[in-house]
Amino acid sequence: MAIILGLESSCDETAAAIVRSDRTILAHALAGQEDHHRAFGGVVPEIAARAHAELMTPLVEAALDEAGMTLDDIDAIAATAGPGLIGGVMVGLVTAKALAMATDKPLIAVNHLEGHALSPRLVDADLSFPYLLLLVSGGHCQLLRVNGVGEYDRLATTIDDAVGEAFDKTAKILGLGFPGGPAVERAAANGNASAVPLPRPLKGADEPHFSFAGLKSAVLRAHESGQYRVEDIAASFQQAVVDCLLDRLSYSVDRIEPLSALVVAGGVAANGAIRTMLADFADERGMRFVAPPLWLCTDNGAMIAWAGAERLAAGMTDGLDFVARPRWPL
Ligand code: KG4
Ligand code: ZN
Repeated sequence: MAIILGLESSCDETAAAIVRSDRTILAHALAGQEDHHRAFGGVVPEIAARAHAELMTPLVEAALDEAGMTLDDIDAIAATAGPGLIGGVMVGLVTAKALAMATDKPLIAVNHLEGHALSPRLVDADLSFPYLLLLVSGGHCQLLRVNGVGEYDRLATTIDDAVGEAFDKTAKILGLGFPGGPAVERAAANGNASAVPLPRPLKGADEPHFSFAGLKSAVLRAHESGQYRVEDIAASFQQAVVDCLLDRLSYSVDRIEPLSALVVAGGVAANGAIRTMLADFADERGMRFVAPPLWLCTDNGAMIAWAGAERLAAGMTDGLDFVARPRWPL
C-alpha cells in the first residue's frame, strides 16, 4: 500500500494532503486565499503566486503533523503541474520536486483536470472505468468519457466561457461578491427562477458543445434594466445553466454507447440545483450517479494525492525536469 503526498496550487487554493492507496485520507490541509483577492473581485495571478509561496511549506508541515508522519513515511510526491495560473503551479511543482529530490522518492506531475476527473474514485470504491464525467469548474466545462488513468475521450467542451466563470461573472454583475458560485446559489434560493427571461445558448443545437457567454450578457442587460430583483436574476440564471447542461448532456448521451455511471466533478459540482438535475437525469437513464462530497468538488490536495496514487499504481512517474504547463488539455 502506497502513501502519497499531494500538492495543489493552480488557482486560489493552496493545499497539501496525504492519501493512502486504500482510499484512506490521512491528512487534508488547505488555505483559501479569498481575503487576498476579494477587493479585486477575482483572482489576481501575481498575488496568488506569492500567497502559494508563503503557504505551501507550512501546509506540507501541517499535513505531516495531522497524519503523525514524517517525509520518510511518504512513498511518492504528487503535485498539480498544470493547467492553471502558472506562477502558482510552479510553486507546488517546484516544492514537490525539491521534496522528491531530497527524499529520493518518485515525483508525479498531475494534470489538475485529471485530479478532478478521478476524485470520485477516492470516495467510491465501486466506481470503475469507463464512466461519463461532467467536469464543471472555474476554467472548464467538459463532458468526458473516462476510460482509465490518463485515458480520456472529450465529447464536448465550452466554445466560450466555463460554467464556473459564468457564475463568477454573474455574481460580479449582481454585486454578490467573490467567490461567485456559492453567492449566486445563496441568492437564488430566495428568488423566482421564472421571473427573468434568459436565453439557453445552444439548446437544441445539432452539436455537442456548451456555451455560456450569451447568458452572462443577458444577465447584465436584465440587471441594467432595473426591472428585476437580484435574487430573481440569480435564480433565473441558475435555472438557465441547469437547462443548458441538461440539454447538452442529453444530446451526447443519446449518441454514445451506454455507460453505467454519470459522474460530476469540479467546483461547480458543489451546486445543489445542478446536482439534483444530474441525479434525476441519471435515474431516468438507469445510470448510477456519483458526486464527490462538496469539499472534494472544489480544489483540494486530496484529489491530487489520489490521482498520484492512481498513476503510481499504473507505473506512471515523472522526471525532475517536468515543466509546469499553463495549458494542458486532458
Ligand atoms: O474546481 P474549482 O475549485 O477551481 C477550478 O479549477 O476552476 O472551481 C471553482 C469554480 C468557481 O468558478 C466557483 O464560483 C465555482 O467553482 N463554484 C460554484 C459553487 N461553488 C463553487 N458554482 C456554482 N455553485 C456553487 N455552489
Ligand atoms: Zn479545479
